[in-house]
Amino acid sequence: MIKLESSQPIGIFDSGIGGLTVAKTVIERLPHENVIYFGDTAHFPYGDKSKSAIQECTQHVVDKLLDHDCKVILIACNSASAAAYDFLKQRINDRAYLINIIDPILQSIAQTHAHKKIGLIGTRQTIGSNVYGQKLRALNSDIQLQSLATPLLVSAIETMLHNKKVIHEIIKEYFSNAILSDIDALILGCTHYPAIEKNIIEFYEGQTEIINPSHAAAAQIKQLLEENNLLNSAGHGLQHIYVSDYTDSFAQSVKLFFDKEIAVEY
Ligand code: DGL
Repeated sequence: MIKLESSQPIGIFDSGIGGLTVAKTVIERLPHENVIYFGDTAHFPYGDKSKSAIQECTQHVVDKLLDHDCKVILIACNSASAAAYDFLKQRINDRAYLINIIDPILQSIAQTHAHKKIGLIGTRQTIGSNVYGQKLRALNSDIQLQSLATPLLVSAIETMLHNKKVIHEIIKEYFSNAILSDIDALILGCTHYPAIEKNIIEFYEGQTEIINPSHAAAAQIKQLLEENNLLNSAGHGLQHIYVSDYTDSFAQSVKLFFDKEIAVEY
């Protein structure tokens, strides 16, 4: 690894706005870090793209975050973590640490949820790749994974979040699938899903544990920074939000999301 400084920022990226749910968790956990966010809005959504298309898009994002001197880069997007993590790791080499959103949560539940039946929802890319299953096997875990692609949820969340009836109907349709019945816990394998966590808890009547992977990712970043003497004590949270295609609606959503004005830069 090249010599990194604690004052360098953490870079977080996603295909669009959804990864801000992850950024928020990281900032809560590490309030004295400087954070840069990149939403690849010109290429949103990643979830229906091929592996090679996602690799092509994300390499430019990572180059941009390296230009900003990030010491750690977090792939907040599940689809990109599934399709491009190994590829990006090779590309970044020793210029920064790269963390994906999938490994930390799997390492954590492999220890805490042995013998359990766990549901996973995500985009077609994430579920179709079977990366969660392969990684669990590599961890020698006996967790029984039950996966279902729920592609309608992302667009429903982006466009109809305030239409409770529509969201409720979509949730009922997907979650009534036998694959997601009788599970001990459910992993929200997509950046957008924490936005409807309450609705999902309601559907399961509080009987199923809902797992948001961003907490494990934030914890892993903290541990990595501590172990490498890279923890910043003088940063100020989210510093910049960059996008690859600027729209007013994105800027509006950022304002709603953080309850304050943060410039969206192109
Ligand atoms: N960020 C994506 C994910 O977590 C969801 C949105 C998309 O399809 O780009 O998989």
